Amino acid sequence: GDDADLVPRPPVVTVMGHVDHGKTKTLDAIRNTNVVAREAGGITQHIGAYQVATTHEGEERKITFIDTPGHEAFTAMRARGAQATDIAVLVVAADDGVKPQTIEALNHAQAANVPIVVAVNKVDKEGADPTKVRAQLTEYGLVAEEFGGSTMFVDISAKQGLGIDSLLEAILLTADAELDLRANPDMDAQGLAIEAHLDKGRGPVATVLVQRGTLRVGDSIVCGEAYGRVRAMLDDNGDTVEEADPSRPVRVLGLTAVPRAGDNFLVVTDDRMARQIAQERAARQRIAEMAKAGR
Ligand code: GTP
Ligand code: NA
Ligand code: MG
Repeated sequence: GDDADLVPRPPVVTVMGHVDHGKTKTLDAIRNTNVVAREAGGITQHIGAYQVATTHEGEERKITFIDTPGHEAFTAMRARGAQATDIAVLVVAADDGVKPQTIEALNHAQAANVPIVVAVNKVDKEGADPTKVRAQLTEYGLVAEEFGGSTMFVDISAKQGLGIDSLLEAILLTADAELDLRANPDMDAQGLAIEAHLDKGRGPVATVLVQRGTLRVGDSIVCGEAYGRVRAMLDDNGDTVEEADPSRPVRVLGLTAVPRAGDNFLVVTDDRMARQIAQERAARQRIAEMAKAGR
């Protein structure tokens, strides 16, 4: 579309890092302090992604977090050619320092050209050495401001909920400094499946991230080889929503099959078109698999 149609959208963030360095705890701490408009009595659901709101330089800003095991989801989506993430938060435990999966994670982010914010976690622990973490990471091109570089490092304790607001601030500062995150909300939606499963009662349920346009209940969509009409959408509070704008994750009900993480989705004119595209994709997939098998 036209440049004039583009409006700012929230950054989409993945949390990565070595095993047990506190990725889940960090995501929980962020979620607990800043969930968008949580309804009284609303049941918080794990939907694979959530959005938080925070005040930044006097403005309300949103950030979307992909809440699946960061590393695997990131790698799986990248392998399928999908780029869901704008910024990676690299969690490093200050008592343990840089470890093999820390390096693997930062390599993935750097290869994908995704800016990194470092969360130096567990600063509450005895033996925590945040300065050492900064020194170690300079070797990998992540140079803290106090070492003369431009990577943002934030000391946090996910356990005690310390430094979480500063982390959100650092994410937004990095987004504003390094990225131009805009999308056109006034078009048919496109985006990605983040995770999906078969629900006994509701059938296929897919968490999708809208990347462009606005997704609405009643839209006919194709998602990978699955298709269908959006029967209902749920946000990360489990509340039903009628529409989802760019960077917003929602659970979609109404697909005929379970898509895979990293599958693209798009809105098409009607159900027939959706089925046709899905069937063509499935046929192409079968041919590709046959070719691969050497038949
Ligand atoms: P995997 O998903 O298994 O790779 O681990 P993870 O990176 O998600 O780590 P997780 O959040 O599960 O935390 C691992 C352990 O460290 C848990 O026992 C947490 O309670 C603990 N932990 C996480 N953050 C902190 C922290 O800030 N301080 C302290 N003291 N413990 C923490
Ligand atoms: Na763990
Ligand atoms: Mg975890």
